[in-house]
Amino acid sequence: MIYFDNAATTLQKPPKVAAAVSAALQSFGGVGRGVHGASLAAGMGVYQAREAVSSLFGVANASRVAFSSNVTESLNTALFGLLDPGDHAITTAASHNSMLRPLYLLEDRGVELSIAPIGSDGSLDYERLESLFRPNTKVLAVNHASNLSGDVYDVERLASLAHDHGAIIVVDAAQSAGVIPLNMQEQGIDVLCFTGHKGLYGPQGTGGLCVALGIDIRPLKVGGSGTHSYDRAHPSFMPERLEAGTLNGHGIMGLEAGVRFVSEVGPRAIHEKEMALVERFETGIAAIPSIRVHGGKGGCDRTAVVALNLGDVDSGVLSDALNVEYGICTRAGAHCAPLMHKALGTTAQGAVRFSFSYFNTADEVDFALAALRALANRLA
Ligand code: ALA
Repeated sequence: MIYFDNAATTLQKPPKVAAAVSAALQSFGGVGRGVHGASLAAGMGVYQAREAVSSLFGVANASRVAFSSNVTESLNTALFGLLDPGDHAITTAASHNSMLRPLYLLEDRGVELSIAPIGSDGSLDYERLESLFRPNTKVLAVNHASNLSGDVYDVERLASLAHDHGAIIVVDAAQSAGVIPLNMQEQGIDVLCFTGHKGLYGPQGTGGLCVALGIDIRPLKVGGSGTHSYDRAHPSFMPERLEAGTLNGHGIMGLEAGVRFVSEVGPRAIHEKEMALVERFETGIAAIPSIRVHGGKGGCDRTAVVALNLGDVDSGVLSDALNVEYGICTRAGAHCAPLMHKALGTTAQGAVRFSFSYFNTADEVDFALAALRALANRLA
């Protein structure tokens, strides 16, 4: 099998990730739920994971990192916790449904919503976006990189725009964390939402949100916190404020191992290696006339994602042929990015997305190119 679906979830993980989960499974008690050794080991492990995340993302301090089960939960927490009826929010057409659907639900409940368009090349018009701000704009909620085109948007510029208009910026870093350097304090990011199982090489079911000092997010869930148990209200301090219930300590240990791997190799070096694979792949597909690549040229940078179509072949048919005949895993269809598909003109056909990771090889790329050449001869 050749796995090119890393934008959905990375399959090959650094060996230390599984080892860390396995060790935690055999030794952890409840995080923050006791003073015996097993519980303290879990508490210490999770605290070290907070520190690792905080250092990778330039967070003000480790207590501002709250763990969640994935970026969808993080975005729901941020958006429902910041926006009230009468507030205005702005997002872009590059957003994933994990951003769009909470915003649509909030819109149904009285939040005003504007969506900045994306051009047919994947580009974001920053001036047009700025024209959308109103006196009641509270949140600018953007994804850092499109999961469909790989276009990376200028997060520093977006943060400045939000702050110039008195708004908070919420960034969905699902596709950029681990490959595009992020530093909340230097880039002016107020809320950074991430998932653990993609470019951070952690297990599924892990993620989090990092919250700048001075920003308060109402919790989406309340309940057991391990402290202040006689109070009616859930604790108001971070990170407990956003972490009701026993944490996924086992998964968080795997996430920490992934984050440490990314920090040691460095997001820049990881990105460089992935982009060399993209370049090889794109050079190869440029020689196949029936292939059209979508986006990837509209950002200030890009991630290792190539969305393409072969003539008018349905994206599901092509993706299935790659899988069944060649053992190549890609993702077809809509990628939970309906407005981005609309912008790129691929709503009906969908697109076949190849997404590369640090663990892919040039030989795998060459095999995929040979497969695409053969399928182009037969299907297009
Ligand atoms: N958001 C993930 C993807 O793009 C699941 O495939």
